[in-house]
Amino acid sequence: MKIGIIGSGDIGGSLGRLWAQAGHEVFFSSRHPEQLSGLVEQAGKCAQVGTAEEAIAFADIILEAIPFSATMSLPADALAGKTLITASNYYPQRDGEIEIDADSQSEALAKQLPDTTVIKAFNMMFAEEMEARANGETAEALAIFYAGDDESAKETVAGLIELAKFTPVDAGSLANGRYFQNGEPLYAQRWSRAKALQELAAISDKDAY
Ligand SMILES: NC(=O)c1ccc[n+]([C@@H]2O[C@H](COP(=O)([O-])OP(=O)(O)OC[C@H]3O[C@@H](n4cnc5c(N)ncnc54)[C@H](OP(=O)(O)O)[C@@H]3O)[C@@H](O)[C@H]2O)c1
Repeated sequence: MKIGIIGSGDIGGSLGRLWAQAGHEVFFSSRHPEQLSGLVEQAGKCAQVGTAEEAIAFADIILEAIPFSATMSLPADALAGKTLITASNYYPQRDGEIEIDADSQSEALAKQLPDTTVIKAFNMMFAEEMEARANGETAEALAIFYAGDDESAKETVAGLIELAKFTPVDAGSLANGRYFQNGEPLYAQRWSRAKALQELAAISDKDAY
């Protein structure tokens, strides 16, 4: 698979390394690609680096791991027809006041990108857990929730979660991504699959009333 990474920092850098280690072609990007030579070397022969525009053009599936404010100006035309994994979280103190014109952060992003399949994943897990896996330091089975409206794209993302050495847990539609956005009960949790499913069922039941 050809994977593009927009925002090759703590999250994007570690996940890109994990997917490159698994044999996927990974195109890291940055506003300063020349500063990522160390990361590309670490990621190995399946990795390259360039601009965000180049990463989008190269890839079938793209991970964004940038400040939420920056996601609001992702290029809708270039991303049309592609799948975008959104890992960002919205922090007003960092991102500034943004009018979230939807019920959740990811739905607001999806509105900006009407021809892109948006899947929410990785935002609820700590970067240090991803880095530890990229460094081969842990194999602890921790659950990562994912949500989206396209079953085939979700299946692909579930596979990428497994390749990143986590356990995928399907939270349902993109709207359900609100359960695990920052500040919500399923956010920032180191849970087993069983515990994650139990907590997901509890919040879904509560939401139904
Ligand atoms: N850290 C965590 O534990 C964690 C966990 C889950 C989700 N998240 C969320 O995931 C996102 C990335 O977090 P991170 O910890 O990986 O951050 P990070 O280490 O700071 O990396 C973010 C990358 O985004 C790029 N970037 C920064 N400002 C940008 C802008 N205005 N436009 C385009 N690119 C920009 C930077 O790359 P260049 O300077 O090279 O362009 C930077 O390397 C954030 O939304 C964060 O809230 C973080």
